[in-house]
Amino acid sequence: MHGLAPKWVLKLPRFLRAKQRFLEIGQQILNKRRANNGEIRDDLIDATISYKDANGNAFTELEMLISVMSPFIAGMDTVAAMSSFLLYDLLTHPDILRQVQNEVNQHLDVSNFTSEMFMKMPTLHMAAIETMRMHTIAVAQPREAVNAFSFNGFAIPKGAQVMISGSASHFLERFYSDPYCYTPDRHHAPRQEFRQKHAYAPYGIGAHLCLGAGIAEVQFPLNVAMLLKRFDVMLDPPSYRLKLANNPTPHPSKFKIKLTGIHP
Ligand code: HEM
Repeated sequence: MHGLAPKWVLKLPRFLRAKQRFLEIGQQILNKRRANNGEIRDDLIDATISYKDANGNAFTELEMLISVMSPFIAGMDTVAAMSSFLLYDLLTHPDILRQVQNEVNQHLDVSNFTSEMFMKMPTLHMAAIETMRMHTIAVAQPREAVNAFSFNGFAIPKGAQVMISGSASHFLERFYSDPYCYTPDRHHAPRQEFRQKHAYAPYGIGAHLCLGAGIAEVQFPLNVAMLLKRFDVMLDPPSYRLKLANNPTPHPSKFKIKLTGIHP
């Protein structure tokens, strides 16, 4: 997607099949909307179809397909990976898990969720922030330098391809005490370590900051909370320790859980 994969990857039958399937789904979405007899829903699909640039040019069909599929790329894989990371962190920190379970049992009504309920589950929220800090899935964003500049003694020429790492600051001791230790408490008031300037950037930085950050911040903790509300879970096997796979962003590899109880 970013043009970073080696060229041979783009010829693999598996890649080509996945690409075709991806484009087919996008085409179905566009076709369905176009067959809607002009009904306007004013969403991403309508905006994509009606978009014109400053010269009056519409998107090409391929650009439209990519645009309507972008929430799947940006919003589903990311949230799925973060849900797994959070669950792993909780299952390997039983004291925090217990606090989260208490909050969930007390405040979460699965069939009638409101944002007030989320506010009543601060341990869940801070655990999610700590998981985002330690397992930043968008580790770096590729950019092209529009102007020459110098950084830390290095001269960056105009047009250079650079990577901006939002996660580098997540492990600096000047922001986080004992940065490799999973400590949701560090984010509660008054410490609020993640709120320091330049300390926390799991959703990127600048003009292209994640558009779904507000949803994601509730969505992935809620996924885990709903699971904990219905089930008792444990790692399977209990000795599992985190391994990472990159596909396309980092996520837990071979991560499995076992349901050991069901709540009425
Ligand atoms: C925990 C989950 C998520 C993480 C960690 C995440 C992370 C990011 C990051 C780092 C960027 C910046 C990319 C760049 O600067 O090149 C980004 C952009 C974006 N994200 Fe997310 N994201 C998440 C969930 C979502 C969700 C749920 C949606 C939509 C419902 C979404 C929609 C977008 C969009 C549309 C952009 C592009 C913004 C732009 O280019 O102006 N993301 N995301």
